[in-house]
Amino acid sequence: MLPLSLTPFALLLQVAVVYGTNWGYTSRDGESHWNQHFPYCAGPLQSPIAFKTAKLIFDASLRPIVLENYDLTGGRNLNLTNSGHSFQVVLPSTMTISGLPQRYTAAQLHIHWGSKTSPLGSEHTVDSKRYAAELHIVHYNSEKYPNVSMAFDKSDGLAVLGVFIEIGAFSPGYDNIFSYLTQIPKKSNSHNIPAFDIRTLMPQRLDEYFRYDGSLTTPPCYQSVQWTVFKNPITVSQAQYDTLTTTLFASSANQAIAVPLINNFRKPLPIENRVVLSSFKLGVTTYMSTTCVLKRKAIVRQLLVGDLEEVIESGLLSASATKLLYQQYAQAELKQPIHGFTSSASVSSKWLSMLKEISQPTVAFGSLLQQKSLEIQQSTTTKSLAVTLADAVLPKLNLNSYLACKADLAPATIKYILSGRPLGNEYEDFFLLDPYLDRYTMHPWLRQMEWED
Ligand SMILES: *[C@@H]1O[C@H](CO)[C@@H](O)[C@H](O)[C@H]1NC(C)=O
Ligand SMILES: *[C@@H]1O[C@H](CO)[C@@H](O)[C@H](O)[C@H]1NC(C)=O
Repeated sequence: MLPLSLTPFALLLQVAVVYGTNWGYTSRDGESHWNQHFPYCAGPLQSPIAFKTAKLIFDASLRPIVLENYDLTGGRNLNLTNSGHSFQVVLPSTMTISGLPQRYTAAQLHIHWGSKTSPLGSEHTVDSKRYAAELHIVHYNSEKYPNVSMAFDKSDGLAVLGVFIEIGAFSPGYDNIFSYLTQIPKKSNSHNIPAFDIRTLMPQRLDEYFRYDGSLTTPPCYQSVQWTVFKNPITVSQAQYDTLTTTLFASSANQAIAVPLINNFRKPLPIENRVVLSSFKLGVTTYMSTTCVLKRKAIVRQLLVGDLEEVIESGLLSASATKLLYQQYAQAELKQPIHGFTSSASVSSKWLSMLKEISQPTVAFGSLLQQKSLEIQQSTTTKSLAVTLADAVLPKLNLNSYLACKADLAPATIKYILSGRPLGNEYEDFFLLDPYLDRYTMHPWLRQMEWED
């Protein structure tokens, strides 16, 4: 797929060029084609997903989302634009949310919808139910990044609030946007609309939601989103829904063929080894506990320097992970202890540098491309770019999620952890590892006791 003669620099240019490629929701340019030009769309932590209430993990530490300065009434006009994929309302940086581990600042909002004849256009689904539409209010991590463009490719860059929309009672809130859609029929059209209270687009209860780690639901599909999808839907009237689904075009004014902007939703992607948390109790729920964190830290310590047999016997890993570990264990038994570790001091400095390396929780997808361009170019002879990128990014993300009790340990991550292990060498200072493992577990979600009412 990529010419092998490209220099790394040319490869970067190539990537930049294909990122400008058109994409959409029709059979020609729809979701099944996205990963040809946007490798992350084939990644392992994609959104949306199908929520299964019986598989949720109730997390008592999840606080209600707190909205700050959402009432924009009387403020500066808001820029409403037809993006060709949806409409977008640009939001002022005074609007923020708290109740998440870090402060997030609003950037924009948009909606995904179905069509007049098929009012089934939400992206997330709940027990296979697809709602009529879904609102996304996009925020970026403003404690760490100066603006949304710096944040949107970082693993901790974005927080999106999702709201399910059903057809029912008229919504005065949504009319603040819908009554201006006729002003922006074609792609790139824009119009200034009076500011209003954004809270009126959201359901009454902000304490009941689903939470998981995922991605942008549109190209380039960066896996940078901490999702909060509210359990309770809000309604718009049939007439309002018809306006939403029949007014806009995906094509621009100078295109000969007008393409209606309908069914602009992506279908659910595999959950893989992610865990979906809920802030509410529903159906069969399991409880998160701090024991989970401690057990998991112990397993990672053992994988790094301890007894592999004990990890296998613990029975706490998935079957595929256990199988891999068993193979590694059998190999280790056959091998002689590796030479080259003459003193415990050199062993520990090697471990410390490796641990520093894996403890960096932020994966900068943009700079990853840059750093890895040569590697990627070489390995695309045997693997696709998407697979290479997933290999490069997955282990760190997965280890982070695993230690936070949000995912199982994937075989790729176990391989990654074992890759620096001095086989057959006993390592005494087991607990020297803890400061590094703690970087993951200092996440506020996990310090439940402090949050308990
Ligand atoms: C975002 O911040 C970066 C770094 O400060 C800056 O270079 C860039 O121009 C900013 N982008 C926008 C859209 O403001
Ligand atoms: C809205 O924002 C876009 C992008 O910045 C800009 O091109 C357009 O002129 C703005 N529209 C209005 C009506 O101000």
